[in-house]
Amino acid sequence: MTKPIKKAVFPVAGIGSRFLPATKASPKEMLPIVDKPLIQYAVEEAISAGITELIFVTSSSKRAIEDHFDSNFELEAKLIKSGHLEFLDIVRQILPKEVSCSYIRQPDTLGLGHAVLCAKPLINDQPFAVLLADDLITIEKKSCLAQMVAAYEKTKHSIIAVQEIAPSESDKYGMVKLADLDNGLGKIQQIVEKPSSKNAPSNLGVVGRYILTPAIFTYLENTGAGIGGEIQLTDAIAELLKNEPVYAWQFTGTRYDCGNKLGYLEATVAFALNHPEVGAEFREFISSLPNARPV
Ligand code: UTP
Repeated sequence: MTKPIKKAVFPVAGIGSRFLPATKASPKEMLPIVDKPLIQYAVEEAISAGITELIFVTSSSKRAIEDHFDSNFELEAKLIKSGHLEFLDIVRQILPKEVSCSYIRQPDTLGLGHAVLCAKPLINDQPFAVLLADDLITIEKKSCLAQMVAAYEKTKHSIIAVQEIAPSESDKYGMVKLADLDNGLGKIQQIVEKPSSKNAPSNLGVVGRYILTPAIFTYLENTGAGIGGEIQLTDAIAELLKNEPVYAWQFTGTRYDCGNKLGYLEATVAFALNHPEVGAEFREFISSLPNARPV
């Protein structure tokens, strides 16, 4: 019997240089989209896929993430005293009771592959998910990770989320070549980190959602610095797929790359327009801007 996916790793140790100075003292993953930080969207997605153990790979400047998922008795006492019970519910409901959090440090920003390797002592010998919080994906019927867990139950092998990427953008992504593509699922033949448009094996780029078998750790341990001098998860996956099948999942949902300013702004506008509290007024505001078309 396959082991269910219960653990998710959130690599949050990056320096977030594209968002400086905002990320000088605060984690990029705590940037809000309207009223929730990016990391909370990713955690909610993981929980929607049946994850109960959250593992954050952090660094010294990321304490705010631990605080966000911990109780804050002082704040709760103040909200009770002031009668703001609706806000009390919001802070108390950030995590369901059955979900646990663990934190492990990445001592130096040696790359995403290295960050995932740092989680090895907490994973044991079981498949696990990896979510990059700066990829924010809207939920259609099912979240992206829930779709991948359903696909994993069929394949029992590693699965990576992919989407079509403009050729000019291939040098920002891991790019895959598939043997086939059937109802969104395809076996990966080749994966390359950040190729030029000329060398990209297809137009399918990797997005920050993975389900990985524990065999990945063996390859991560033996992966040297790749593109950008960092230990790349893509390079370890390229080795993994020489020895076991790895699948790509073309998910449904809109993905916003909140690791760059434009993607973050697009996500903010899209989520604000649909926000139950401010959506209607925000729509009016956007439509009232000079040169705006009605939204
Ligand atoms: P990015 O490539 O977006 O790097 O990392 P970054 O540091 O967050 O942002 P920029 O490029 O400097 O603006 C992708 C994901 O991998 C994590 C990041 O936190 C992000 O979630 N990461 C990256 C680590 O945890 N450790 C690393 O050494 C590198």
